[in-house]
Amino acid sequence: MNDLPTIILNNGVSIPSIGMGPGILGYSARDSKSYTNPLCQFSYRVYNKICRYPKLVNNYVNAIINSFHVGFRLIDYSSSYGDGTLIGKAIRKSGIDRNTLFLTTRISNQVQWQGNIRECLFQQLKGMNTDYIDLLMFHWPVTNVYVDTWKEMIKLYKEGYCRALGVANCHQHHIEKLMEVADIIPAVNQFEVHPLFTQKTLISYCRNLGIQVESYTALARMDDRLFRLPSLKNIAKKYNKTVAQIVLRWHIQNDLIPVVRSLNPKRQMENISIFDFKLSSDEMEEIDGININARVRYDPDNCDFTIL
Ligand SMILES: NC(=O)c1ccc[n+]([C@@H]2O[C@H](COP(=O)([O-])OP(=O)(O)OC[C@H]3O[C@@H](n4cnc5c(N)ncnc54)[C@H](OP(=O)(O)O)[C@@H]3O)[C@@H](O)[C@H]2O)c1
Repeated sequence: MNDLPTIILNNGVSIPSIGMGPGILGYSARDSKSYTNPLCQFSYRVYNKICRYPKLVNNYVNAIINSFHVGFRLIDYSSSYGDGTLIGKAIRKSGIDRNTLFLTTRISNQVQWQGNIRECLFQQLKGMNTDYIDLLMFHWPVTNVYVDTWKEMIKLYKEGYCRALGVANCHQHHIEKLMEVADIIPAVNQFEVHPLFTQKTLISYCRNLGIQVESYTALARMDDRLFRLPSLKNIAKKYNKTVAQIVLRWHIQNDLIPVVRSLNPKRQMENISIFDFKLSSDEMEEIDGININARVRYDPDNCDFTIL
């Protein structure tokens, strides 16, 4: 592991304090059209088609390699983004020692319905060219099936295929349900958090159980309601940082592990250069106060799992 600060999970495993999520190949959160583009809903048919565009694939793979160069070690992935081969390709091409990385993947909703949890993990392992995943999660608590998914994940954990188990997009009631049926408490809950949506109650619920929170969409996808705020611009100016760096630093000082997506080398470097300054408690409070309970992604209690 490089000198990035780390956090110890409830099973003793060490995890980097910030993650890079390359996301779906060919998808850009900047391009608002891609939100509604059906091609962005993952399917292997579509994925294989997109993989035929070498420029797109090379950009994606090179962006992952660059994220290693600037210091990212936690890669956040999901079987709903692809089969893992592009992550494997980036690892191979970069020459980085796999054991210095913290590879995360998630069980997609489709796989949960099909019940092929084991096959899905094995496919991800094959794609990434590794024999273990550092953190295995499910992508969404899909109604009626996520508890069974969790039980299958526990078997895989006990067999040594993953070093830690986590969940994503879980409210308190989802976690309570898992604890009723299983003897393992998730090490991580990954859900949407940023200054427009601070999720204090859920964070403290997780913290009390020793569940580490990973905050996704950590930059609120550069939402104008956040990035145009004069208060944030002023704080950024004071530290000679960008607003994105101030927001990511706010995550770190809240003991969250932000997961951020950028395929751009300059912005990747920017996103990881947040460990050389500290926000004051007044500034932390000021940023907390931005909260307007606004999600930019989906509410797990009110969404269509078939399109996620
Ligand atoms: N578990 C889940 O259900 C779930 C859901 C959503 C997301 N996630 C995870 O979280 C990751 C990030 O989420 P996200 O993509 O929704 O949101 P995000 O990281 O808040 O925003 C990504 C967008 O911000 C831009 N950006 C990144 N750094 C920047 C910077 N320093 N300055 C200016 N623009 C910057 C990126 O563009 P460029 O690439 O052009 O820099 C991209 O368009 C995903 O890749 C995924 O791994 C998980």
